[in-house]
Amino acid sequence: MCGIIGYIGEDNALPFLLEGLEKMEYRGYDSSGISVMSENKIKTYKKCGRLEALKNTLASENTLVSSIGIGHTRWATHGKPSDINSHPHVSQSGKISVVHNGIIENYISLKNFLVEKGYKFISDTDTEVVAQLIDFHYDGDLLKAVQKTVSDLEGSYALGIICSDEPDKIIAVKKDSPLIIGTNYGENKDKSENYIASDIMALLLRTRKIYRLQENNIAVIKKNSIVVYTPEEKILNPEKDFELANWDIESSGKGNYEHFMMKEIMEQPEVISKTLTSKIKNGEISFEHLNISDEYLKNISKIYIVACGSAANAGLVGRYIIEKLLKIPVEVELASEFRYKEPLVDKTTLVIVISQSGETADSLAALREAKKQGAKILSIVNVRGSSIANESDYVIYTSAGPEIAVATTKAYSCQLCIIYIFSLFLADKLNIMDSSDMSKYINKLASLSDKIQEILLKKEQIMEIAKKYKDNKYAFFIGRTLDYAVCMEGSLKLKEVSYIHSEAYAAGELKHGPISLIENGTLVIALLTQDKLFDKMVSNLREVKARGAKIFAVTTIDHKEKISQIADDIFYIPNSLSEFSPSLSVIPFQIFSYYSALLRNCDIDKPRNLAKSVTVE
Ligand code: AGP
Repeated sequence: MCGIIGYIGEDNALPFLLEGLEKMEYRGYDSSGISVMSENKIKTYKKCGRLEALKNTLASENTLVSSIGIGHTRWATHGKPSDINSHPHVSQSGKISVVHNGIIENYISLKNFLVEKGYKFISDTDTEVVAQLIDFHYDGDLLKAVQKTVSDLEGSYALGIICSDEPDKIIAVKKDSPLIIGTNYGENKDKSENYIASDIMALLLRTRKIYRLQENNIAVIKKNSIVVYTPEEKILNPEKDFELANWDIESSGKGNYEHFMMKEIMEQPEVISKTLTSKIKNGEISFEHLNISDEYLKNISKIYIVACGSAANAGLVGRYIIEKLLKIPVEVELASEFRYKEPLVDKTTLVIVISQSGETADSLAALREAKKQGAKILSIVNVRGSSIANESDYVIYTSAGPEIAVATTKAYSCQLCIIYIFSLFLADKLNIMDSSDMSKYINKLASLSDKIQEILLKKEQIMEIAKKYKDNKYAFFIGRTLDYAVCMEGSLKLKEVSYIHSEAYAAGELKHGPISLIENGTLVIALLTQDKLFDKMVSNLREVKARGAKIFAVTTIDHKEKISQIADDIFYIPNSLSEFSPSLSVIPFQIFSYYSALLRNCDIDKPRNLAKSVTVE
């Protein structure tokens, strides 16, 4: 997803802009650029491709010194990746430069209006329209011109704007897409500087003191002041809302790992333990910070779990757990579908929105739709203060820490843990679980980290299996009930990092069509953790084996005798309560996907076409 960066202060802006763009590379992009001020003129450099291409362009500009600048990594939405379509976009007059994250829905009509006013466009982007429109409204007051422009825009936008006639300020605007202001205010008075960024990771280079620009607000940022205007032009004093980012730059590094994805896979025992212990004190589950009334909980008639991608896959696990423990009907809906399907929601519906980034546009829109219909929103989010967290009635934060690899692993695992704990919390509140069962579940939760560690210690076994299948063109993941839910996540992982196409099927469904695709050598990855369904699964494996499939089975050691008779490759995971088995069974799939991608020389942390947080529809 696009990344915005900006600097205003007393130092040269360029080093911070480039470092900041580097810190946001993980978000996914296809081009980058910067605008700085030199002799009161805007100078813009932008290149398609990796950041290196931009740096090479700048290498000959070593005299470029500017105390103000903006930068951008672009994930193309309107207009193909190219130098011309890269940001920043500069107005025809050369006075205004803009970087943008989001989508301007009405850019065509605005572009036609501006063409009639004599403006000429050089790019295919919606963002260039913003730069020209500010120029059109500009009559010596940049803030006014931006306010008028924003009132014309429809869609989502985080904007960074500079103007050569007013080189003492950056203007930032936030609607739907995230925008954070960083400041070293009070830390070093004689070297006052302020920053903007889409992502905390870029700001941690200089400060942990941040201010999250709120919905529809506009900030005028000078080197020693930040003034925020609401749409009603009320002036806010941001100082009282400064917060200290609770992530440190070290934890966002790769450490000794070749890829963030493997680092984050290996961090799972630690972050799961942190997530669990933050909510379970002395054997008791505590969510007192939620302020959820017992009255409300007792009247929940239905739960929707709404999310995208892996977060939605975590929701599929959640559905099984919640329905089993609480006997409350649960529907899992992809946010991009939920927001348009006129969902059956009322004030007795609890909508759980799951999101690592807390900025996924579809999930945020679905949240707003559900709220409009009277539902209460509980969000499970990894990034504190993110848009989804801010707009929820109740928020539970995972403690996964910064997740840099585009393919989520540790955040997904922490989401599962929060789902388990919240389900037990509800069971307790609804008095439907006795204390001995509660203790049993809590004890089993406490052992998850160690069991995951056991699996991680055997990751080379999975690498050997990945070597056998790295050239397969596609694979099937099959499982039943909870295992089917985990297969959905395993299949997504394999696809998104190794580019091996795969599909997840409920094992009982194969004979209703997909089995026609099974031929000699087809890889079938089978998950068998639900003891009651083990024999059913073996029957399904016999069906595919008879048609030439190669079977890679993940199961527990007590099924060794039977599974050895049919599977070509087997990985054993430790026993656990069936409800918590997803936390264990997903790990081999994460590792298998990682090694498959490694063996296929894929760009593991930044897979092609993908973004870490999809902040556009
Ligand atoms: C998962 O590996 C993908 N990166 C993607 O499916 C992701 O889960 C999805 O875009 C949702 O992101 P979120 O959790 O930040 O909302």
